[in-house]
Amino acid sequence: MPAPHDHEAETAAVPAGTPEAAPPAGARPVSRKSLLRAAAAVGAVPLLACTGVALAREHTGGAATGLEPTPACDDGDDPTVPQTEGPYFKPNSPHRTSLVNAGTPGIRLTVSGYVFGRACLPIAGALLDFWQADVNGAYDNTGYAFRGHQFTDARGAFRLSTIVPGLYPGRTRHIHVKVQAPNRPVLTTQLYFPDEPRNNTDAIFDARLLMNVREVGPSREGTFDFVLDVPQSPSPTPTTAPPAGTWAAGRAYRAGDGVTYGGAAYVCLQAHTSVTGWEPPRVPALWRAA
Ligand SMILES: [Fe+2]
Repeated sequence: MPAPHDHEAETAAVPAGTPEAAPPAGARPVSRKSLLRAAAAVGAVPLLACTGVALAREHTGGAATGLEPTPACDDGDDPTVPQTEGPYFKPNSPHRTSLVNAGTPGIRLTVSGYVFGRACLPIAGALLDFWQADVNGAYDNTGYAFRGHQFTDARGAFRLSTIVPGLYPGRTRHIHVKVQAPNRPVLTTQLYFPDEPRNNTDAIFDARLLMNVREVGPSREGTFDFVLDVPQSPSPTPTTAPPAGTWAAGRAYRAGDGVTYGGAAYVCLQAHTSVTGWEPPRVPALWRAA
């Protein structure tokens, strides 16, 4: 049977010194905003429009307005902050992207986004293990209701189908998650919902972990990008032979593809479908000089 939530246990702090307690000194900050700025600077959002999943940090009124100088990929964003695991994590959750079926009560919610490393490159094959309360605010500690793990795809994207978790005394609305790049330490954290009255009184709540959430009919769509403290080479080794010829709009480029533009050579950093205005020199989030 689902058990009531133990708020007191959940308030325990993350032990200092654990891999997820804090980024190591000197960690290079990560910039998701740079990716957005790169797209916004040429009037194009979302960056990965061809994927159908918008980058999560597209705050309205933010990056989407005005032109900015050529961005660098380290404008101060930090890796996603850790939070306490709480008392109800269970290992061996089912491998699934949907935690609901047709009869599951609750407001339908999808949570989607990307997992990035410190060089702002997406991480394929990253593990995300979600667990949350049901519509009544209870966790299933005997079974695996509202528990499931999945892996990011080749683009570093994930998508969870669930319900808006119920509230219970002592906490604001939240979803627990563990995120882990292959062979790297686990990040344990929680995701939050904007405009929740209890966000102001929950001692664990952290605004840096707010999802962007919008209503779509009777459902909700939440987005969030994780940034793991994982070193990455900003110059990934091409995985495929560079296509011949110069850059052109309307092409589906993959990370590692090479092109020429204006007489210079460039390497694709993120898979995307090119459009006019995203020429390599103008979008350093997508192309670097070879
Ligand atoms: Fe919880």
